[in-house]
Amino acid sequence: MHVLVVGSGAREHALLLALRRDPEVDALSVAPGNAGTSAVADQYDLDVTSGDAVVALARRIGADLVVIGPEVPLVLGVADAVRAAGIACFGPSKDAARIEGSKAFAKDVMSAAGVRTAGSEIVDNPAHLDAALDRFGPPAGQAAWVVKDDGLAAGKGVVVTTDRDAARAHAAGLLDAGHPVLLESFLDGPEVSLFCVVDGDTVVPLLPAQDFKRVGDGDTGPNTGGMGAYAPLPWLPAEVTKQIVDEIVQPVAAEMVRRGSSFSGLLYAGLAITSRGPAVVEFNCRFGDPETQAVLALLESPLGRLLHAAATGELAAQPPLHWQDGSAVTVVVAAENYPGRPRVGDVIHGADAPAVLHAGTARRDDGSVVSSGGRVLSVVGTGKDLAAARESAYAAVAAIRLPGSHFRSDIGQAAAEGRISPVGGSG
Ligand code: GLY
Repeated sequence: MHVLVVGSGAREHALLLALRRDPEVDALSVAPGNAGTSAVADQYDLDVTSGDAVVALARRIGADLVVIGPEVPLVLGVADAVRAAGIACFGPSKDAARIEGSKAFAKDVMSAAGVRTAGSEIVDNPAHLDAALDRFGPPAGQAAWVVKDDGLAAGKGVVVTTDRDAARAHAAGLLDAGHPVLLESFLDGPEVSLFCVVDGDTVVPLLPAQDFKRVGDGDTGPNTGGMGAYAPLPWLPAEVTKQIVDEIVQPVAAEMVRRGSSFSGLLYAGLAITSRGPAVVEFNCRFGDPETQAVLALLESPLGRLLHAAATGELAAQPPLHWQDGSAVTVVVAAENYPGRPRVGDVIHGADAPAVLHAGTARRDDGSVVSSGGRVLSVVGTGKDLAAARESAYAAVAAIRLPGSHFRSDIGQAAAEGRISPVGGSG
């Protein structure tokens, strides 16, 4: 099987490495890729937002399966174009990708499916903003305001704050740019990312993971696209994972089938484990980044076969997934000033080590690897438990040299020290 992976991040690098372990995958291509993925797959330039361009490339190289990594091409309908060309595609249709592309659509599906999620209100008129903030903020008994862009925002459209002025400023900025704003009540409790391979109403969960969205240790500073992750979650009982599948993902998948927007691909449930049980923070229509780097490091089952089965309606016939024992941790090495405008163009030393997955990197003509984006590398460590996986990941991080770069030093630490409980929050 020849698999074409579309995308250029560490998530796609992780997908390629897992696909390479599958004996049924005999050819791997990536487009557009990065400096690290070129060592794993044949690499091609590509406008990932153009369905015609993706189809033309897939035909030219004879791909049997196209795996679309990022949300933007999915929301634009690239998977529909690939399927219409008769090529198997892992990734939802444009219609189904609205579960991520429109938070209002996702809320509507969850409401119809009876799934617990934060109370919310869409504001699209600046004149209604102050009254809405009064209904959703701490004066109404909430711990914080949660202000989100209704559309795609690469993880950075969300502000969670106890400061009304900051909440108002973020919402007003979005409205000024013509973006509807979603105000939500705050969901307290540790967060879980549960990725499920879904085909219609067949749901296959992967290992639960947790990511770290704030830039600084101790969950301080602004939100980012993700600074690290670990899997599985030693503090999350297996029955809660089952509950998430049975009471949240399965009903949402069934509701999407019912309304003619059947989902085929990776349905990512982002949840808070509240005192009233798991509740949805968001759904995404693709593998999460950086959780994928940790989750797939532990996958023993053949990934190509799994994704091809989902893409061709055969998911229900697949055997149960097998996982390596132990834990995996990924630590993101970010460029100076990220998540603001990152400094780019610096030479990176140590980026070719096996534990290092590439994201914002490019290779210069002289062969050196340079930074080209905010999240530059994802360093992955595995071990018999979370403490050992952390040790391995941070030892590999210590061997990397990138001027001005920064990383969080506490990825998975609270869990490794037994400081997270499913109802008591983390500390
Ligand atoms: N880990 C957050 C995301 O992938 O959206």
